[in-house]
Amino acid sequence: MPSRAQFPALQLEVRGKTAVYLDGPGGTQVPQSVIDAMSGYLRHGGSNSGGPFLTSRYTDDVTYAARLAMMDFYNARRPDEIVFGQNMTSLNFSLSRALARTWQPGDEIIVTRLDHDANISPWLLAAEDRGVTVRWLDFDPADCTLRLDTLPELLTNQTRLLAITYASNAVGSISDVRRAAELAHAAGALVLVDSVHFAPHGLIDVQALNCDFLISSAYKYFGPHTGILYGKYELLDGLTAYKVRPAPGKPAGKWETGTQSFESLAGVTAAVNYLAALGDEAGSRRERLVRAMQRIKTYEMSLSQRFLLRASQVPGLRVFGITDVERLDERTPTFAVSLDGVSPEAVATRLGEQGIFVWHGHYYAVAVMERLGLLAQGGLVRIGFVHYNTADEVDQAVAALASLR
Ligand SMILES: Cc1ncc(COP(=O)(O)O)c(C=O)c1O
Repeated sequence: MPSRAQFPALQLEVRGKTAVYLDGPGGTQVPQSVIDAMSGYLRHGGSNSGGPFLTSRYTDDVTYAARLAMMDFYNARRPDEIVFGQNMTSLNFSLSRALARTWQPGDEIIVTRLDHDANISPWLLAAEDRGVTVRWLDFDPADCTLRLDTLPELLTNQTRLLAITYASNAVGSISDVRRAAELAHAAGALVLVDSVHFAPHGLIDVQALNCDFLISSAYKYFGPHTGILYGKYELLDGLTAYKVRPAPGKPAGKWETGTQSFESLAGVTAAVNYLAALGDEAGSRRERLVRAMQRIKTYEMSLSQRFLLRASQVPGLRVFGITDVERLDERTPTFAVSLDGVSPEAVATRLGEQGIFVWHGHYYAVAVMERLGLLAQGGLVRIGFVHYNTADEVDQAVAALASLR
């Protein structure tokens, strides 16, 4: 992909060598256009929203532009189906509190073992508050894919919600969210999708998925630290949000608590525009996003294939999740690995000393590590590629891992 030069942070050097950012699943770097949009907002002169004067109107314009951008990114039906918040976790906690008010003791909800804890704990706590039963959708430890075949047995006419990840931030498996939503809806349950890890790697289409809610965070896809919730209009409108009294009663305003980070909203628009530009000039922004995400996916699959082939030649290096190169469209280029005889922390530390940035531990995929029996042993090393990574960086990472043994 031709976009590396747009990312100032990718020029960083460690001990005279260009840094290798393989920590994208924890947060990506941003292009210059996002930096310019954010500093541009601050330079212009801003104000809080809703005032009858220039700087406040400017803030309202910036906010609306971000709503339109995220409407395109998610393929929502209307801009007021987009809600901004601090991050995915905070948005999910406020949504879970609002949804839980509609539950009765004896109701049931379903969470998955493949999820980040930000899509588990809010639901466990809400269920505890309301006397609701929690059922767990498991994954197959052999390839770390969700056991959707077991979902029908978990669904009952008491099920109120399925909270499901679009892709695992630990092992990269992509869930068949559309199928899961079909099954859950047939049982009368709502569906909430955590798309935080999936978002930089593939096209999101909330209408095609027919999910009720979906949340992501722009810092995982080349934007600033802001969370973005999609909710079906009727649901956002009908549910009672926890809010202060004068907050606008309509979606999305009633869900946006306090003052937003307006400079971040300027950055969100720039991040979506950056991605759309990878899909060339022609067509609407959504059409450009469709092409861009397809290009990103194809390119990232080439990185995954290279990584898996090279990694399979390193003695003692084990890759968790899907390793079959014929199944690359079922995973993101995020690999959780172990190296015999070297702890995950030692691997991350020693790669970090060489300027190769990777995470170790559970990265809040606590349930994944528990299910794999690895939590107490320090989890796994996570090596995550995004479209600004190169084939040469894949080779550097594998060579560095091989040299540690
Ligand atoms: C899959 C997934 N869900 C949720 C989160 C939490 O997102 P946030 O930091 O925006 O609260 C993360 C963050 O790493 C994640 O990877």
